[in-house]
Amino acid sequence: MKYSFAELTKNYQSSAVRDILSVIQQGDVISFAGGLPSDDFFPLEAVRDAYEKVFVSGKSSLQYGLTEGFTPLREAVQAVMLRKGIAAPLENIMLTTGSQQAIDLFSRVMLSPGDVVLTEDPTYLAALQVFRSYGAKVVAVNGDEFGMDADDLEEKIKEHQPKFVYVIPTFSNPDGKGWSSERRQKLLELSYKYNILILEDDPYGELKFSNEEVFQPIASMDHDRTHVLYTSTFSKTVVPALRTGWVTGPAEVMAMMTQGKQMTDLHSSSIDQQALYYIMRDFDLNGHIEILRREYYHRMTIMRDYLNKLDSGLFTWKEPKGGMFMWVQGGEELNVTNLLDAAVANGVAYVPGAPFYVNEPQLNTFRLNFSHSTPEKIKIGMDRLVSVLLNPATL
Ligand SMILES: Cc1ncc(COP(=O)(O)O)c(C=O)c1O
Repeated sequence: MKYSFAELTKNYQSSAVRDILSVIQQGDVISFAGGLPSDDFFPLEAVRDAYEKVFVSGKSSLQYGLTEGFTPLREAVQAVMLRKGIAAPLENIMLTTGSQQAIDLFSRVMLSPGDVVLTEDPTYLAALQVFRSYGAKVVAVNGDEFGMDADDLEEKIKEHQPKFVYVIPTFSNPDGKGWSSERRQKLLELSYKYNILILEDDPYGELKFSNEEVFQPIASMDHDRTHVLYTSTFSKTVVPALRTGWVTGPAEVMAMMTQGKQMTDLHSSSIDQQALYYIMRDFDLNGHIEILRREYYHRMTIMRDYLNKLDSGLFTWKEPKGGMFMWVQGGEELNVTNLLDAAVANGVAYVPGAPFYVNEPQLNTFRLNFSHSTPEKIKIGMDRLVSVLLNPATL
């Protein structure tokens, strides 16, 4: 049988990163490739206790729930956001199946084929997949370590009249970058000037390594609450398996997204949302996040110290101030996709940077995840990686 799929499925792309991951998940390979949080700190007891509480609370806990999600958890999320300076009314907060679903629902209600979305370059691959799946054209804005270049942004807004600008301003995936507050402010100013929405994706903001620098969400600067749609998640702070994220934004956009969600799945798992509510109520989540910050910082420093062994003229990287990723750039002629086989044969893996690019991919870049492997594994893996990168035969 020849299946005649919908026209828009022509835009579907398999995730190049997932394809790579499936190849390198073998034997003794130490992988810095996946974007995984550490299992070592998953609060197993707290999760188990929370589910117990859901089940003893009675049969009504198993009933259908609101599309917007379990109200007590939405209230807890409201308090979390308020601490970040985002004052969102409860009716504008929706729980989603991960922040991934928030990206999808927003795109679903905003994008028609041919519409333009502006992004950073490189950026989160699975968001690019979503935008393109609705037939949108993705246009990259130039940037540097402080965020999008404001002049290029303004020019591209004028040229393309985009539907929205998608950004991960706080410890981005893939490049770990944290935007300066000036660039955040500038993006917001331009979004007001040209009447354009911002989709602020903030899964990593809680994982900052120091309190010295403040990475204020752009949504917290949007005092009219008219221009920023903000999404975050419990995937990196509690566990990804609960598949619970949230989204807040302008009332009209939220109302439209709620309708979109009704069609998609009626509501996300209310058992999981209730469990998360008990975790937020009874578990010291802030203390837990402090542990993650400390441990991830420790792991990052180990990785950084190994990278320091590489000839600094040939490889460059920026030490991230939070999150889960380091982004490394090699010499002009280095092709890290070709080098991956040698690395895997030597028992270590990374993700080549190419799939994260919107424009011409820089084949000499790669992403390293420092959250998932233990310090011991990081040392062994980085020894292996450095030896591959420094071996002129493989270069
Ligand atoms: C930048 C970014 N946004 C969104 C997500 C989706 O996370 P989740 O759906 O688990 O909340 C991820 C996951 O890695 C991510 O890196």
